[in-house]
Amino acid sequence: MAKTASYSCSNCGAAHSKWSGRCDDCGAWNTISEDVPLSAGPSAKGLGAARGRGIELSDLAADEAERPRSRSGLDEFDRVLGGGLVPASAVLVGGDPGIGKSTLLLQAAAAFAKAGLTSVYVSGEEATNQVRMRARRLGLENAPVKLAAETNLRNILTTLEKEAPDVAIIDSIQTMWLDTVESAPGSVSQVRAAAHELTTFAKRRGIAVILVGHVTKEGQIAGPRVVEHMVDTVLYFEGERGHQFRILRAVKNRFGPADEIGVFEMTGQGLAQVANPSALFLSDQEAQLPGSAVFAGIEGTRPVLCEFQALVSPAPAGQARRSVVGWDGGRLAMILAVLESRCGIPFAGLDVYLNVAGGLRISEPAADLAVAAALLSAREDAALPRRTVVFGEISLSGSVRPVGQTETRLKEAEKLGFEAAIVPERSKLGRNAGIRVQKMPDLAALVGNIFGAG
Ligand code: TYD
Ligand code: MG
Repeated sequence: MAKTASYSCSNCGAAHSKWSGRCDDCGAWNTISEDVPLSAGPSAKGLGAARGRGIELSDLAADEAERPRSRSGLDEFDRVLGGGLVPASAVLVGGDPGIGKSTLLLQAAAAFAKAGLTSVYVSGEEATNQVRMRARRLGLENAPVKLAAETNLRNILTTLEKEAPDVAIIDSIQTMWLDTVESAPGSVSQVRAAAHELTTFAKRRGIAVILVGHVTKEGQIAGPRVVEHMVDTVLYFEGERGHQFRILRAVKNRFGPADEIGVFEMTGQGLAQVANPSALFLSDQEAQLPGSAVFAGIEGTRPVLCEFQALVSPAPAGQARRSVVGWDGGRLAMILAVLESRCGIPFAGLDVYLNVAGGLRISEPAADLAVAAALLSAREDAALPRRTVVFGEISLSGSVRPVGQTETRLKEAEKLGFEAAIVPERSKLGRNAGIRVQKMPDLAALVGNIFGAG
């Protein structure tokens, strides 16, 4: 064993000189464990011992042709990657167990193979037979994907080096182990070492590597946070239990926009792409109900309409609840406070429930106005005008601020048969918007205009 042990936090990666139950840096509990050195390389001896060799420096303006991205033809997948898989890159796909990561990546492997790339799928969790059965269920049994069931990373790297495929899928990073690391597979040091080996291998050999990672109950990739920093792209595959919709979301992408989403539906024959997510996230617009407001949002590079649903009901004495699904709880508290202090509409003593329909998660501040409209509509028990979308950011003063991509939002709404839009007053509008626009300077105007209250 090492003489001077060092410890690190699996959550934030902070180094500690001794073990403790709680990390001082990030405050997480039970995340500190002893580091086992990767190998007896120069870093283990300290830098002073040997001089490094000189490295060659090159110009920023080198004339190197950009290698084209590899498209799988699975459009929702390609878009989230930023327009296809970048050669020699490392991608991490995280998600809860059972959400469909293996299914997605087997389909992606087959799609890459059909697009003329060589793809290898290594499963550390299932036997090749199980993977074949799944492929049959997906109707992909004839796709030229190379298959292996293996967890020993040394064997895997040797094989990949020989095969030199375009794409290698490792399912999952938590099952991989290196014989140079003295802890059990799935432990922090194993996961970190395996991810490091695989990402450097991707760069060195020019092979795109896709890693599957399980997510803990707290919603983080099980294993060290540093794995997310090592890879070029981090995608999360998410969805509500009981919903068949799955959303693939880019949370980090060195080669494309983050926050891009791809939408899938889990069917009996695997994941089907949903080309028009807006239609999916909306309920019947003919029956406009109190508490519902349609938000014209932007997810990544694409407009997505979705429905905010609010319910306001009298709370049992003294303990009003605020419950949010699909949006930020802090942001909801802010809007309730602005409604109360700027418009004189109190929510004290009332339970407030807010939900984004269809299992979507919204993070844009542009949704503020739609949330306010849904809350007001629920509180007054009065439905908003039919076929109307809402967007705009609300400031603490109660004014409504313009948001980006107004035209794109309006066009998507028009395409889906919406006739009117409630937008911030200073929105930049094009000339030929075929949708009736109602401009709001502030929240009080929304209250007065829509509900005739004050
Ligand atoms: P899986 O890809 O094994 O999830 P993960 O790798 O993220 O753990 O998906 C498992 C679930 O998906 C399982 O509950 C069954 C369901 N499923 C379908 O509904 N249809 C299908 O065609 C397949 C292959 C799986
Ligand atoms: Mg799996």
